[in-house]
Amino acid sequence: MLKVNNLVKIYPSGEGKLHALDGVSFEITDGELVAVTGRSGSGKSTLLNIMGLLDKPTEGEYYINDKKASGLPSWEQAKVRNAEIGFVVQDFALVEKYTVKQNVNIPLIYSKKQLDKEKAIREVLRRVGLSDKINTPVYKLSGGQKQRTAIARAVVNDPSVILADEPTGALDSVNANGIMTLFESLSRAGKTVVIVTHDMNIAARCSRRIELSDGKII
Ligand SMILES: Nc1ncnc2c1ncn2[C@@H]1O[C@H](COP(=O)(O)OP(=O)(O)OP(=O)(O)O)[C@@H](O)[C@H]1O
Ligand SMILES: [Mg+2]
Repeated sequence: MLKVNNLVKIYPSGEGKLHALDGVSFEITDGELVAVTGRSGSGKSTLLNIMGLLDKPTEGEYYINDKKASGLPSWEQAKVRNAEIGFVVQDFALVEKYTVKQNVNIPLIYSKKQLDKEKAIREVLRRVGLSDKINTPVYKLSGGQKQRTAIARAVVNDPSVILADEPTGALDSVNANGIMTLFESLSRAGKTVVIVTHDMNIAARCSRRIELSDGKII
């Protein structure tokens, strides 16, 4: 379960202030697959980064599985992030000189979960269609292959919450479809999945849509 309550994010802008988020509140229950939509600059990444504990709100609270996550010290937020959250950032943030396998392994290095790491990596790469690239360094991949590596890395540690910023932006329709099938099955397994997207076909496959305009829900 995710809950945000009156989130405000203010950036200084020239003489004035820019309200990137302006009082956003909602709840998302376990197993929901939610699309966050809205025009460029409407606050989607700002919202997702706060939900992923990568950024702090100016005001408001955020709860993950009934536990207040905003306001925790950074080290505790890092723990929550590692155990509960899988995040796909808009620009992938992969280690280019590492292989696909080494990148996907990163969340598993400090993971305390009881899982067969080798098997988890192979399974997730199969799901995103990258089994044949397992030992390829990331700098040799196409944009879409990098995006799928980033998605594999986000879900390999079995997080309860998956947050993805434009996860199909670099993908052709066949691969975008495959990624949505993966997200749908994670959601059926009870995971909470939140996807920022410009693509109305992707949004239509989600169980709910949250639309932002100028930092407010419309
Ligand atoms: N670090 C920052 N400093 C100042 N302003 C920022 C910062 N990050 C975002 N903004 C501003 O906040 C607003 C919301 O930005 P955000 O990145 O959340 O938009 P978005 O909906 O994700 O857009 P896009 O679809 O283009 O990715 C924009 O007006 C942006 O210029
Ligand atoms: Mg964005």
